[in-house]
Parts: sequence; C-alpha cells; structure tokens
Amino acid sequence: MSIEKKYFGKLSDGREVTAFTMKAECGVSVTVMDLGATMVSLNVPDKNGELKDIVCGYDSPEEYIKNDGYTGATVGRYANRIDKGHFTLDGKDYEISKNEDGKRTLHGGFCGFDKKIWRSEAGQCGCGADRIKFYYTSEDGEEGFPGNVDVTVVYRLSADGELAIRYLAEADKMTPMALTNHSYFNLDGYEKQDISRQLLTINANRFMGIDDESISTEFYDVQDTPFDFRKEKQIGKALFTNYEHVMIPGGIDHSFDIDGTGGKMLWKHDIPLVKSVTIRSKETGIVMDIYTDAPAMQVYSGNHMGGVKYKGGVEAKKQGAICFEPGYFPNSPNRTDVPSCIFGPDRPYSSTTVYKFSVK
Ligand code: GAL
Repeated sequence: MSIEKKYFGKLSDGREVTAFTMKAECGVSVTVMDLGATMVSLNVPDKNGELKDIVCGYDSPEEYIKNDGYTGATVGRYANRIDKGHFTLDGKDYEISKNEDGKRTLHGGFCGFDKKIWRSEAGQCGCGADRIKFYYTSEDGEEGFPGNVDVTVVYRLSADGELAIRYLAEADKMTPMALTNHSYFNLDGYEKQDISRQLLTINANRFMGIDDESISTEFYDVQDTPFDFRKEKQIGKALFTNYEHVMIPGGIDHSFDIDGTGGKMLWKHDIPLVKSVTIRSKETGIVMDIYTDAPAMQVYSGNHMGGVKYKGGVEAKKQGAICFEPGYFPNSPNRTDVPSCIFGPDRPYSSTTVYKFSVK
C-alpha cells in the first residue's frame, strides 16, 4: 500500500489544491483531492488485468469550480433537492439558498461542500488500509442552514482494493443533513461516454416519482415499470422508453428505496450495510457492488452531461456515465413518510458506503 501526495493545481484566487493517490497491491488506485473532498480518478483492473479509470473528472481544479455537475465531489450539507428552499424545524421557519432556478435548493446551495477546500490528513487505519481524511466546518447560517457542523469524510482503500467512504458529522443545532459522493461511473472506462449497454441491478422495490420541477412526489412500486432493476438489466432498457417518469428528467434521475432486498453484510464486523447496486460492463468485465447504510439511492443517468472536456480532453456526452448517490430521500426535511434527515447534538451523522470490484 502507498499514498502519494501531489500539487494538483491552483484556483483563480491563488489557493493551492492537493491530490492524494492511494494504491492497493491488487492494482486498484484512487485519487482524491481536497477541493470538494472529490474523487478525481478510480483505476480498476479489467478482465485482462489492464487498468481502467472508471470515473469522470477534470485535469485542473478550476474546471471543477467552473463546470456544473458536482463531478466526483462530496455533496452537502444536504445532497439532493429541498423544495422552495424552505423547511420548518422546532417550529421555526428556515429559508435556505434557492440555487436551482431561484426556486429550490440543490446539493447544498450556491457554494456547497463540493466547492470548499477541505483540511486533509493522509495515514493508515489500524488494520493497515490507507486512508485520507478530509475535514470541513460548515458555519451556522451557511447557505441558510442552522448550526455549526464539523464534517469528516474518510476515503479508505484496503489491500484487496475495497474502497470505503465514511461520512461523520457533528452539529451543535438541529439541522437537515445528507452527505454523498457524486462520482460519474462508466465501467467501460470513463472515456467511452456511453452507459446504455452496461448491466445494472438496483435492489429496491420502490422509487420516488418526481414532478416537472424534479421535486419528489409519492413512492411507486418498480414492478412492471422500466425501473424494475431487481434483476440485472441493460441501463438503456430504462432510458429509451416513453415511461412518464423517464420522460420528465429525460432518463433516470430518481431516488430508490434501499430496503435490504439485495442482502446484507457486516462491514468491519460491526457496521451493517446492504447491497444497493451492482453495475457490470461486458466489455471490460468490471463489476462494481455498492454497499451502504443510507436509506435512499439517487440514481442519475447523466442526463445533463455534455459541453465540457474531461481528463485528457475526453468530450463529455449525454448519459456518458451514471451516478449512484447514497443518502436521504429528496426533500426529506419537508416530508414525514421517510427516514429523518435531522441531525444535531443528540444525533451525530454517520454513514458508510463501500465499493467492491471484481471481474466476470
Ligand atoms: C444529480 C441530480 C440531477 C442533477 C445532477 C447534477 O444528483 O439528481 O438532477 O442536478 O445531480 O447535474
């Protein structure tokens, strides 16, 4: 195992951005940077033992600031949408940043966790795995949210190539919180920019509908819909249909109820996780299983991708990659029918997502 620390570039205001690469003996390597506690690349051996970089990213930090899309970033304080940029907590009304069309809050507001430079620390876990810890303090009132929040995001890579991301946070007032990673995956290699033929399993019996402003509505059973991914299916089978829930966002952009149907595992002996998603490429043979303890998984098929160049000048294409964003349901602060996303002095935030790689 080894960790390499490197200067990644400068922002226009002169601040320097640092990247860290962790390499496991089996070949898997991951590069993360302190801007947005972002995953910049993820190299995984394919069926021929050749490394494929399976996440989109940019060559310079400034492109991450300039371009929309939250590419690879840690998203917070609240990943996903909050309707009308408003919620009530303990009888008090909160107006938060309406950074999407001036109507609602998306992914934490105008300057969310993805655009902050985090403090960082590289080291090893007790068990010998490499890890990079990122820290950020979000102040009371940031983007309108209540309470100071100390956030820690830990990327951990074990010798057998298992990648874990842990999110821990402590707030001194009650506040909504949902932290996630917004990587765009393509298991053919990110440069291929087409996910329609990749095979997807989503272990969920229900998904949440959205209205024409992408605000969540009620739960729907996946049975007899294109969103039934309980058995492995080509992603394209859901993308190219006239199903009303596909027509609204122009693809998949929905939250799935991660209800445990995919089976469970105890991670590091005491953290219960469920298998939420499996994605596989026939071309490279790469398989990725995602385990999480988050109640919901936003699956976003890159419907707004395009108009930018990724690493090495690769042109971004619509539906060129797919995001799996474990977290809380959209608009949870304004709903009572979903798990609570309210954390505070009596309820610290803790969530873990584990990515496992194999070839088939
Ligand atoms: C996703 C969201 C999409 C889109 C995207 C960023 O998490 O579900 O609707 O906003 O982020 O381009």
